[in-house]
Amino acid sequence: MWNRSLVFAAISAAGMAGAAYAAQDTAGIGFPEGYRSWFHHHSTVNRSGHQPEGNVGIQHVYVNDAALEGLRTGKFAPGATFVVDRFKYVEQDNHSMSQGDRKVVAVMVYDPQRYAETGGWGFQAFKGGDPAQKAVKDGGQACFVCHIPHADNHYLFTRGAQ
Ligand code: HEC
Repeated sequence: MWNRSLVFAAISAAGMAGAAYAAQDTAGIGFPEGYRSWFHHHSTVNRSGHQPEGNVGIQHVYVNDAALEGLRTGKFAPGATFVVDRFKYVEQDNHSMSQGDRKVVAVMVYDPQRYAETGGWGFQAFKGGDPAQKAVKDGGQACFVCHIPHADNHYLFTRGAQ
């Protein structure tokens, strides 16, 4: 028969397992192979002084076919994916800027069941564009915070299909 301490140990172990699952898992989000041939939606330059500083750079937003369809119809299907490809910029002569090293490839994948805690979007980021260097370890919570004000637009900054 179980004694009290054994029962307590069993309950604690269950509790810890529960805590481990509390943050949804985004480790399974893979590198968006081929995104450079997806639809290029727009580019933005965040100049020096922009906050947060980590987002300074030239960034290009790409959308896959399902995401483009979602932008057109206002309804996203599971698998719809957005990518931000962010680069350092290099000041050139004659007030020009050119693209420098890649900083990050940031991804949002729509799967409302799997990523219910972050508006249906799974967030992941690949440092330096390296498929092996996944940067998101908190289930996407820190990413999501910035996207929450865009709840009226499916948590997206990007609007419209052009
Ligand atoms: C400080 C605020 C902030 C945080 C934190 C943030 N984002 Fe964003 N995100 C933005 C802004 C601003 C844009 C619009 C970029 C543009 O239009 O060039 C954006 C756009 C995106 C897009 C393109 C789809 C869209 O919403 O327009 C993706 C993908 C994305 N972010 C992924 C991420 C990931 C992954 C993380 C966490 C690693 C993250 N974001 C954290 C501000 C943030």
